[in-house]
Amino acid sequence: MKNKVVLITGASSGIGKSTAEAFAAKGANVVVAARRENELHNLVNAIKANGGKATAIQTDVSNSKEVEQMVAHTMETFGRIDYAVNNAGIEGEIAPITELSEASWDKVMNINLKGVFLCMKYQAKAMLSGGHSGAIVNVGSVNSFLGFPAGSAYVTSKHGLVGLTSSVSAELGPKGIRVNLLCPGITVTPMHSRIRDLFGDDLYDKGIIPKVHLQRAGKPEEMAKVILFLCSDESSYISGSTLTVDGGLTLTM
Ligand SMILES: NC(=O)c1ccc[n+]([C@@H]2O[C@H](COP(=O)([O-])OP(=O)(O)OC[C@H]3O[C@@H](n4cnc5c(N)ncnc54)[C@H](OP(=O)(O)O)[C@@H]3O)[C@@H](O)[C@H]2O)c1
Repeated sequence: MKNKVVLITGASSGIGKSTAEAFAAKGANVVVAARRENELHNLVNAIKANGGKATAIQTDVSNSKEVEQMVAHTMETFGRIDYAVNNAGIEGEIAPITELSEASWDKVMNINLKGVFLCMKYQAKAMLSGGHSGAIVNVGSVNSFLGFPAGSAYVTSKHGLVGLTSSVSAELGPKGIRVNLLCPGITVTPMHSRIRDLFGDDLYDKGIIPKVHLQRAGKPEEMAKVILFLCSDESSYISGSTLTVDGGLTLTM
């Protein structure tokens, strides 16, 4: 990863933040994007304090102008993009279909699905202009395959990423850019805490964790390691794939 350039969305917390730290530890130049500027600046300062190179750009991935600027900032700062990690996402409103508002539906789709489309659109242009190989990792979920009650907006957005990823892989693969979808299971992040609060400790501890073969939630660092693998040459023949990292949960649901 030495001197490679990686752009990571949703890097202000959770999986995205751990991924930025993991890339920086391997010597990559890191661009971190999200809406919360303070968190991004703290992360950039921590990476720099450890001898790494990083820059932040405040971005709402549902806004095409801001996404275009995010990619332009990456090119202006580091001159190329080798890897892109489209991780930004929200759980949105968890509500039965009869209660779910149109605004909530649109918000989830705009961030989780349209956001990944916009990111790949501008990232691919920049990568292709460099004429070198690259890799894109989108972040789906076990909910890219499984539904759950009151989760229709989130689940639909994450299912959509399967089609988006495989289509863009078919387009960019011949040009040397691999595109894959990481599908995390339960991972201990701020999103996970919010969902756990919503469903209650009882359902979580007695209903969900026993279904995980490994009997525990994953750590964001464990997702970061797989994202690094999917960007690295170690995964040189993997493209258009979904890689589930869930400790076995999907097999028992
Ligand atoms: N944790 C889990 O159990 C789990 C399981 C399966 C899949 N996932 C997926 O993993 C990804 C990361 O989630 P996480 O668990 O790490 O959650 P998290 O800690 O809540 O992080 C979500 C990140 O997305 C960013 N984000 C949200 N809306 C954005 C927007 N409009 N524009 C730019 N950035 C935005 C947030 O930053 P700002 O608020 O600063 O913008 C934050 O950095 C998500 O796509 C999620 O669906 C998580």
